[in-house]
Amino acid sequence: MESVASAPGKTILFGEHAVVYNQPAIAAAVDKRAIVTIKDNPKGVTTFRSDDLGFEAELDTRKKTYKLIKGKPGIIRYVLEILNKWHDEHTPIDVKLSLNIPIGSGLGSSAAVTVATLAALYNYTGFPFNKRVLANEAHKIEQSVQGMASPLDTAVSTFGGLVYLSREKEISKFNTDIKSNFVIGYTNKKGNTGQIVKSVKFLKNKHPRILDSIIKTIGKATDEAKDALMTDNNSKLGELMNINQGLLDSLGINTYELSRMIYTARGNGAIGAKITGAGGGGSILALVPKNAEKVFNALKVEDNALIAKITQKGALAKVRE
Ligand code: MEV
Repeated sequence: MESVASAPGKTILFGEHAVVYNQPAIAAAVDKRAIVTIKDNPKGVTTFRSDDLGFEAELDTRKKTYKLIKGKPGIIRYVLEILNKWHDEHTPIDVKLSLNIPIGSGLGSSAAVTVATLAALYNYTGFPFNKRVLANEAHKIEQSVQGMASPLDTAVSTFGGLVYLSREKEISKFNTDIKSNFVIGYTNKKGNTGQIVKSVKFLKNKHPRILDSIIKTIGKATDEAKDALMTDNNSKLGELMNINQGLLDSLGINTYELSRMIYTARGNGAIGAKITGAGGGGSILALVPKNAEKVFNALKVEDNALIAKITQKGALAKVRE
């Protein structure tokens, strides 16, 4: 028997950093996926392999240890945590990962791999689950591996589409008919999210009245952006992205490289461009109604880029006999 499951990556559209202070956030699933296949291993060893990552290891799922055969371990911690917690019988299996989400692009590859692996395993073991169970459990796995994690990433990877996280931390899905492409630009320099979140807190403690109102204004921009998305108002969405970028810059999380990518995107046809995720390195997101290739090619001159569309397809799982 073979069980296959997949889950999409995500991008934060609005609300990064402000969400730490109970403001809302919006994230979208994108058409780049993690695909996990699980089947019996006849040789009596459990293996984890990803040709896309050039990675192979043998796992001891009871002890949560592994023997590296090739590649860098990285993502293996999530897979081991899932198999240790949910593969009760610990029978030998082969776990194979295909990943078309570039690592370091800010598209939440760890959440997509976690959701896809968990769904493939639930299917393999015949554990009955729905998407709510899957999203909750994937979030717990991310928390135990990372120490802290936002529930937004795993929710988006599970449910697909657009997800709104409210001030009360409730997650809901909503729809848009906006067909514009998003272009994501990313640098090889990745910021340390924990440290960047702390630096914002430090600035907020120094200038509480100013930072409080900036953070609340980001929350208002997020709510207006939800409106723009629901009414398919492309130009309003672009303007709000640019406004949000100015506010994020004032939190001290911008860098020269991120600014360069933002102005390159805007100069080549993006109607909105902003940092996505924590900043301090990392990624930008540009809204490009026409000719996304032009923005993509311009970004590729000095940095990395990809073109992505919002996808409604969340986690999918099936069993092949
Ligand atoms: C990082 O992707 C988003 C932040 O808001 C941190 C978080 O919400 O955990 C910066």
